[in-house]
Amino acid sequence: MAVVTGGSRGIGLAAARGLGDLGATVVLVGRDHERAVASADRLVADGIDAVGLGCDVSDPAAVAALPGRLGPLAAVDVLVLSAGVMSERTAKTLRTSTSEWRRVLGTNLDGAFWAISALVPGMVERRSGRVIAVSACLGRFTGPGLAGGLAPYRVSKAGLNALVKNLAAELQEGRRGVLVDAMCPNHCRTDMGGAQAPRSAEEGADTILWLATRAPVPGPDGAVPTGLLWEDRAVVPW
Ligand SMILES: NC(=O)c1ccc[n+]([C@@H]2O[C@H](COP(=O)([O-])OP(=O)(O)OC[C@H]3O[C@@H](n4cnc5c(N)ncnc54)[C@H](OP(=O)(O)O)[C@@H]3O)[C@@H](O)[C@H]2O)c1
Repeated sequence: MAVVTGGSRGIGLAAARGLGDLGATVVLVGRDHERAVASADRLVADGIDAVGLGCDVSDPAAVAALPGRLGPLAAVDVLVLSAGVMSERTAKTLRTSTSEWRRVLGTNLDGAFWAISALVPGMVERRSGRVIAVSACLGRFTGPGLAGGLAPYRVSKAGLNALVKNLAAELQEGRRGVLVDAMCPNHCRTDMGGAQAPRSAEEGADTILWLATRAPVPGPDGAVPTGLLWEDRAVVPW
């Protein structure tokens, strides 16, 4: 059983399709209910067990109501946090309005927190689950993360990375059965990434599927490598 926020389009939809092809029941959560249902219907037509649900992840009350709406489907094995919005291209730190800051942080960071709050306690109780946050290179404190600009977006993804790191530590890096990781899909051809991006949404979703299904093999220190930032199935620095 998998819930994919941002599952109605782009990388989230590609991840939902991939998880569905692997046999999971998938719930596609999007802001626009009709689009989420239409996307789920397309997966169903291809033989996938899928449900579409509208839920604005920036609305804490709406996300808190999700488990009730999901019923038995709330017993989630895999939670993919892909819902995201890009900031205005000109949104530098000193050129960002309060509403733009709240719009981007409210979805990309707060939305991930609300979804985790709603669905991860059950995973912890069941001592089983995977949480995969779709982050971005732009949120890193290294490499491409250091260039400035797109302030609300970069800060939201840096915050998302911190949220992942913190939660993973609180869940003892997988020792309580729940693996929590962030991943960077790289620049993909979606509504956000644009038509000229070098990767397909499916290529962007590959590491999500890998994280969702990899065997929890302990590393040399006896711990499963988790609480990390991944790109192309490899760990990259935060
Ligand atoms: N594309 C890239 O090159 C790229 C690169 C690095 C990271 N990322 C990250 O990858 C993730 C997916 O990006 P994408 O390119 O697939 O974006 P996209 O094609 O624009 O799709 C965005 C998805 O997020 C959903 N969403 C947005 N705001 C929401 C809200 N408030 N509540 C619920 N759902 C909401 C949308 O739902 P509706 O359809 O209802 O609007 C849609 O399903 C994002 O977190 C993005 O930051 C993307």
